[in-house]
Amino acid sequence: MDACMEATRLEEAGQSHLLRFWAELSAEERVEMTQDLRSMDFQEINGFFQRAMKESGREKQEKVDSRMEPVPRDMLGSVVSDRELLKAWEKEGLLHISQSKVAVLLLAGGQGTRLGVSYPKGMYDISLPSHKTLFQIQAERILRLQQLAEQEHKSRCSIPWYIMTSGRTMESTREFFSQHNYFGLNKENVVFFQQGMLPAMDCNGKIILEGKGKICMAPDGNGGLYKALGAEKIIDDMEQRGIGYIHVYCVDNVLVKVADPTFIGFCVQKGADCGAKVVEKTNPTEPVGVVCQVDRRSQVVEYSEITQATAEKRGADGQLVFHAGNVANHFFTLSFLKDVVNTNEPQLQHHIARKKIPFIDEHGQLIQPDNPNGIKMEKFVFDIFQFAKKFVVFEVLREDEFSPLKNADSQDGKDNPTTARQDVMSLYCRWILNAGGQFVDKSGNQVIPSPSLESATGETFQCEISPLVSYGGEGLEELVKGRKFKFHHPLIIDEKGNLELLKNGY
Ligand code: UD1
Repeated sequence: MDACMEATRLEEAGQSHLLRFWAELSAEERVEMTQDLRSMDFQEINGFFQRAMKESGREKQEKVDSRMEPVPRDMLGSVVSDRELLKAWEKEGLLHISQSKVAVLLLAGGQGTRLGVSYPKGMYDISLPSHKTLFQIQAERILRLQQLAEQEHKSRCSIPWYIMTSGRTMESTREFFSQHNYFGLNKENVVFFQQGMLPAMDCNGKIILEGKGKICMAPDGNGGLYKALGAEKIIDDMEQRGIGYIHVYCVDNVLVKVADPTFIGFCVQKGADCGAKVVEKTNPTEPVGVVCQVDRRSQVVEYSEITQATAEKRGADGQLVFHAGNVANHFFTLSFLKDVVNTNEPQLQHHIARKKIPFIDEHGQLIQPDNPNGIKMEKFVFDIFQFAKKFVVFEVLREDEFSPLKNADSQDGKDNPTTARQDVMSLYCRWILNAGGQFVDKSGNQVIPSPSLESATGETFQCEISPLVSYGGEGLEELVKGRKFKFHHPLIIDEKGNLELLKNGY
């Protein structure tokens, strides 16, 4: 059988230990193992390992820190300091959306290890009154935005949704969308594709076995996007559809403004080929990358790769020097992405994550290590910023646009289902207030619902507005203006604009 051929390839690559337990494998396990081995280019993998290890040395780390500089002012746009320009940017973005030139691309190939669920994160229900999942919330925002662009420009349009999955999330993601009838989107406009996987390796570059016949594989990072865009013919699909601009984002931000017309309009008007949204990072240890320049090239230095001293640096005004926190919302033109896929992708380095990886030792025993014993190699989605001809940064407000779901609930926890739910409900409350509605307490006094009001009164507030009714707070005046709502009773505006004032006396 082919194992012989594989044995030679493995030997040449110094990976022959992978066949150590071959004699003990069942016929089925042998077939699977052979398939896995065949799909791998060991010389390439060894090369990735050597380059990544070399780059990740401490020396290099220190050098990066000393070369970092904050984003120059002329690259920056801001929802606060450019308030008077926002309408024009939004208009520009809506125009491109109405011409079906804008696509969204969701990075959903991660394993959600920190959240600790066995299914794709997009299927997570953060316990809003409607129990909508992250996928459904995003789908409905796309639908509403299409409608807004159509209303504004009187032409039918679509926003194709490209969803990158990995070997581990593809089946369940597809099935979930199909079961839910694509949440009302046209099936043709939801395109799934798969990123690559790489084996985990020990610190000497030996591939790790997680079973006697099973190689430990993991997705190759969200920067695996660029290889996948070519291999899965996604660039071709975008070209055929006439797409010009792509909004790439992470699955876990419950406040994400998918295909945000203001961000797109800002990037287009600035003539940028690449852009990133940021929020102000105020806590040096927050696990967000920082957008900055290294050797005058735009880059994100990831939270796992910045030294504490650099993260803590503050300017005279007390603000962190590196405060442009990456919210993993990126803008690319299609021509930039094409260049990256065709030319730059092979130059991207893998980053190394040192992990505790369960492994089969030479005696065939499964070992659960107490300390990191191996590495996973990942490319990062933002590593292509360095190739941009014109890079811009758009600063938005955290409370309006960034609440990532990373961790499981725990006391005093951050970025978990509770904070995601509270943040999205607080945003909806602000929309109601902006639209002229009011919240009152049991005595009829006006209040502003918030988690601190909850703690003070012992009452919980629930406020949910269907994204099918409002994308960014628009269209609510006629529903709520001049009305008073008891903050401790749920206020729900459903997809038809009905106010379900559950037990709400007003
Ligand atoms: C990411 C950003 C970080 C940012 C933070 C904001 C990267 C590399 N890091 O960090 O700079 O401040 O979000 O929340 O982007 N994914 C894949 N394939 C993979 C791995 C991940 O598609 O192989 C997807 C995940 O499904 C997720 C996104 O990439 O949608 C981010 O992954 P995650 O591991 O959660 O990134 P963070 O470490 O939180």
